[in-house]
Amino acid sequence: MRPVVVAANWKMHTTPADAAELAATIAGRTRVDGPVERVICPPFVCLAAVRDALAGTGVAVGAQNVHHELTGAYTGETSVPMLVGLASWVILGHSERRRDAGETDALVGRKLRRAVEGGLRPIVCVGEQLTEREAGRADAVVGGQIRGILEAFGDGTPADLAADLTSSGTVIAYEPVWAIGTGRNATGADASAMADTIRRAMADGGLGSRAEAIPVLYGGSVTAANIGEFLAEPAIDGALVGGASLKPDEMAGIVARAGLTAEARAGERE
Ligand code: PGA
Repeated sequence: MRPVVVAANWKMHTTPADAAELAATIAGRTRVDGPVERVICPPFVCLAAVRDALAGTGVAVGAQNVHHELTGAYTGETSVPMLVGLASWVILGHSERRRDAGETDALVGRKLRRAVEGGLRPIVCVGEQLTEREAGRADAVVGGQIRGILEAFGDGTPADLAADLTSSGTVIAYEPVWAIGTGRNATGADASAMADTIRRAMADGGLGSRAEAIPVLYGGSVTAANIGEFLAEPAIDGALVGGASLKPDEMAGIVARAGLTAEARAGERE
């Protein structure tokens, strides 16, 4: 049984002075009956304030990135041990970091290794560019990203790989680059097909049947108005939300819908 997850990526928004209030407001507005995992990922400098604001609410805190080494001469960077007590989740390989910081699949795989070893729950981002989709290469690109990440993740046996990724609660976020921050979302059907591609690539990459246990989120212009289209797809387990995650009304709508899905899926199992 895969969890339903709604993760807020605040990107480079909020300050330590205003993040706590926003986090507390969102926590209060997103209390739902269904078993939804809620995560807020603020900027690094806001992590402590958001952690304090969310204490006792059931909403987890995530970082937006982490370095692939544990310590060293890496000016301006943040390592997994530094996040202990501040964050329990981490976003890895977001397309804005691939674009602005030159992150590659190999680097994302090394970060994933660090995150898993350090007990953080990773949200690993993959997704194609518009030109790649238009050229009919979206599946090949995303499958290749998964393969590259898994290769860099481990030199263990396939059984180790599967155990590491499933026991760490690793989540994949499918975020088509052309849908991020554009107001142009993918269709539920396209996201679902890509979730199948992702799980197939993970199965082939060493996870075997345990790839089915990996949650896949959709991200890219998710709103309260369109979240239903994605959660109607059994292959999609939630959303990574950017712009709308700064708006309590939007988050209330998104998590309410996720709560219904989580309840329905739990019911189906009984
Ligand atoms: P968006 O961002 O919801 O603003 O499109 C999603 C993301 O980048 O994770």
